[in-house]
Amino acid sequence: MMTSFKSSKSPYDLHQVQLGIGTWSWGDRLIWQYGKEYNDDDVHAVFTECLNIGISFFDTAEVYGSGESERLIGRFLKGSKQAVFIATKFMPYPWRLTRASFRKAFYNSLKRLGLPKVTLYQLHWPNPPVPFTIWLEELARLKEEGLIEAIGVSNFNLSQTESAFRSLEKYGLSLASNQVEYHLLNRSIERSGLMDYCHEKSIRIIAYSPLAQGLLTGKYTSENPPGGIRSARYRNQLHTITPLISLLRKLGDQHGGKTPASIALNWAICKGTLPIPGVKIISQLNQNASALGWKLSDEEVALLDSVSEV
Ligand SMILES: NC(=O)c1ccc[n+]([C@@H]2O[C@H](COP(=O)([O-])OP(=O)(O)OC[C@H]3O[C@@H](n4cnc5c(N)ncnc54)[C@H](OP(=O)(O)O)[C@@H]3O)[C@@H](O)[C@H]2O)c1
Repeated sequence: MMTSFKSSKSPYDLHQVQLGIGTWSWGDRLIWQYGKEYNDDDVHAVFTECLNIGISFFDTAEVYGSGESERLIGRFLKGSKQAVFIATKFMPYPWRLTRASFRKAFYNSLKRLGLPKVTLYQLHWPNPPVPFTIWLEELARLKEEGLIEAIGVSNFNLSQTESAFRSLEKYGLSLASNQVEYHLLNRSIERSGLMDYCHEKSIRIIAYSPLAQGLLTGKYTSENPPGGIRSARYRNQLHTITPLISLLRKLGDQHGGKTPASIALNWAICKGTLPIPGVKIISQLNQNASALGWKLSDEEVALLDSVSEV
């Protein structure tokens, strides 16, 4: 249960959110080439249009663009009167060893966002050296102090999620979400039992990279690979995804001209997850938002399952 930091009086239930927007690329020059093909104006326009069409959940992190993603959101929020729900993340860098470093990171995020509190605060990775249960204790403290509405984790496997759930249970708190990579080319959470466990415990699965970083849009091929680090990461897959992309296109046609991106996101929604596609420009937002308001049939989901990775 979450409330917004602005105007909305009713509780905010993450399970009611069908689609959010990932903002890793907002301000990130290194991986996403911010400032070259798209800029402040583009992502500001995306932010404004999201609110116009009823998308109000934005995922960011202190590390995205070295804080620039949070800074941009903070700037956009100043001009907005609507309720907006912000999820951000704490990165357990190996040099962060103290509880004070956690607090400092959190307050720096609030400062960049220009907010008194956030909707969802997530532990970005379960990395050592500090046991993640210590960071969870700090998250619980923030929740008790009313500085965050809900506690989330990210990149936690099944046993880590079980452990996090039990840790928070001791404080009488619930684990609201686990943000993990999930899309048609990576369905490992189905195999590992993580998906079933999260559904059973009402932990919202926030599906990151739901378009496989652009591959599921169908625009990238071996002849036209994505640039930067994505080219190395997906080099092998680009040769093998043709049948899946063809099926996405076919289903899109059968659903009144939807794009492969729209079908891929709808599939993730049908699987009971909350996808947060990254969006750089308005045309991408329009395509991705068209995943809302309808559902693939069970047969279509099964067909996509059979053609995709598992
Ligand atoms: N917790 C974690 O460790 C973690 C890790 C990764 C991501 N995330 C979160 O998940 C969000 C989404 O993941 P992601 O950005 O890695 O991958 P993604 O959502 O699968 O792909 C996003 C990229 O695909 C392209 N794209 C998106 N919609 C499109 C459309 N309709 N048509 C054509 N191209 C489109 C854009 O890049 P191009 O135009 O350059 O192709 C966009 O930046 C992130 O922003 C972040 O919030 C979290």
